[in-house]
Amino acid sequence: MNSKRGIHGAWSSRWTFILAATGSAVGLGNIWKFPYIAGENGGGAFVLVYLLCILMVGMPIMMAEVMLGRCGRHSPINTMRYLTEKAGLHGAWNAIGWLGVVAGLMILSYYAVIAGWALHYIGHMASGTFQGVSAEKADSIFNTLLADRNTLIFWQTIFLLLTVTVVIGGVTKGLGVAVRVLMPQLFVLLVLLLVFGYQQGDFARGFSFLFSFNYKALTWEGVLEALGHAFFTLSLGMGAIMAYGAYMPEHARIGRTVVAVGFLDTLIALVAGLAIFPIVFANPTIEPGSGPGLMFVSLPVAFGNMPGGLLFGSVFFVLVTLAAWSSAISLIEPAVAYLVESRNFHRITANLLLGLLAWVVGLGSVLSFNVWSESLIAGFNFFEFMDFLTSSVMLPLTGLFIAIFVGWIMRPQSVRDELSDESDRVFWLWRIIVRYVSPLAVLVVFVMGIYKTFS
Ligand code: PHE
Repeated sequence: MNSKRGIHGAWSSRWTFILAATGSAVGLGNIWKFPYIAGENGGGAFVLVYLLCILMVGMPIMMAEVMLGRCGRHSPINTMRYLTEKAGLHGAWNAIGWLGVVAGLMILSYYAVIAGWALHYIGHMASGTFQGVSAEKADSIFNTLLADRNTLIFWQTIFLLLTVTVVIGGVTKGLGVAVRVLMPQLFVLLVLLLVFGYQQGDFARGFSFLFSFNYKALTWEGVLEALGHAFFTLSLGMGAIMAYGAYMPEHARIGRTVVAVGFLDTLIALVAGLAIFPIVFANPTIEPGSGPGLMFVSLPVAFGNMPGGLLFGSVFFVLVTLAAWSSAISLIEPAVAYLVESRNFHRITANLLLGLLAWVVGLGSVLSFNVWSESLIAGFNFFEFMDFLTSSVMLPLTGLFIAIFVGWIMRPQSVRDELSDESDRVFWLWRIIVRYVSPLAVLVVFVMGIYKTFS
C-alpha cells in the first residue's frame, strides 16, 4: 500500500512543505485565540507554560507526526492502519488516525464561525464603522454582530465555501502560493499594530502582563489550556501535519523543518499578543479576560484611531481571513483524503459532504453566541464545549498516543531509518524527549487539568 508517492500528489520541495505547514499552523489560533486565552489565564505564567509546551511537547510531536505521515504516505487513518499492520500491532492504534480526523472536523465547525467574524469585519472596517471609535462603541458593535444569527451564518457559509473550493482543487498551487505572498504582509501589519500599541497604548503594562511570571494566576485548568493550545496552534494531534507529511519529499530533514514552522508560529502569536494588550490596557472598558471578542474589540479601536487605519484595518482582516483559510484547508484535508482513498469518493463529493457536516455542527456554535448562550453542557456553552473537547481533550490525547507509538511501540530501527537524514545528536535528543518528557508531561497535565475542571 505504501509507495514513495501517495495517490494525492506531493509537495514540489521542502520549501513548499514548510509553507503549507506554516499556513496550517498560523491561523486564528495565533492572532485570535492565543491573546484571549492568555488574557483569561492572567498572562505571564500562562505564556511561559505555553512556550515550554511548544518546545518540549509540540515540536517533538510534530516531528513524529511528519515522520509517520511520510512513512505511510496516506490519509492519517490509512497511514496508521498501514503502520500497525506492517508491525503486526493491535488495530486499536488506528484510533490515532480516527480521533484526529474527527477532531479536525469538529474544529472546522467553529473555526469557520470565527473566521466569518473576520470576513464580516473587512467590510465594516472599509465602510468607516470604526472611524474614531471608543472601546465601548467597538464592544457594542461586536455584540450586535453576535446577536445577529443570520449574518453569522452567512459569513460562516462563505468561509466554508472558500475552504472546500481550494481543497477540491488540490492544495499546492492555490494556497501554497497565497501563503507565500501574504503571510509576510500579515506579519508586517502586525508589527505596525505593535508600533501603534507602543506609541498610543500602555505598552509597558501590556508587555509585563505577557511576560512577567505571576504564578498565582496559573491554575491546572490553565496549564491544560496552554498544553491544548500548543497542539492547536501547531496543528497537531488531528492528522493535519501527518497528512501534509505524507506529501513530503523523500529526503528532507524533518527536524529543521519543524523548528522553522514552530518558530514562525510562536513569533506570530507573541507579536499578536504584544499588539493587542497595550491597546487593551489603555482602554479600561476592555478587560484582558474578555474572551473570544478580545481581538474584535481591541484592534478596531486601534485601527479606528490611527491615520489610514480604516484601510490598514480592512487589509488586516483580509489577511486574518487568509491565515484562517490556509489553516481550514488542513482541517478538512485528512478526512477528504480518507474518503477518496477508502470509500471511492470523488474529491468534489467528499468536500461537499464534509463541508456540509462542518456547517451543520457549526450552527451550534453560531447559536451559542445568542439564543443558546445560556444552554450549558458541563458548564460550557456549545462553542466552548467544542473548543474544550477538541483542544483540551482530543488533541492532547492523540498527541500522547503518537508519542507512545513512536517512542515505545515502533521498532527503533524503523524510526531511525525514517529519520536517517538527521544527525545522531538531534535524533537521540528527540528520541529521549518523545519517549519520556512529552508523554509524561501530557499525562500529568491532562489528568490534573481534567480533574480540576470537573471538581
Ligand atoms: N493551527 C491553526 C491555528 O492556529 C488551527 C488548526 C488546528 C489547523 C488544527 C489545523 C489543525 O489557527
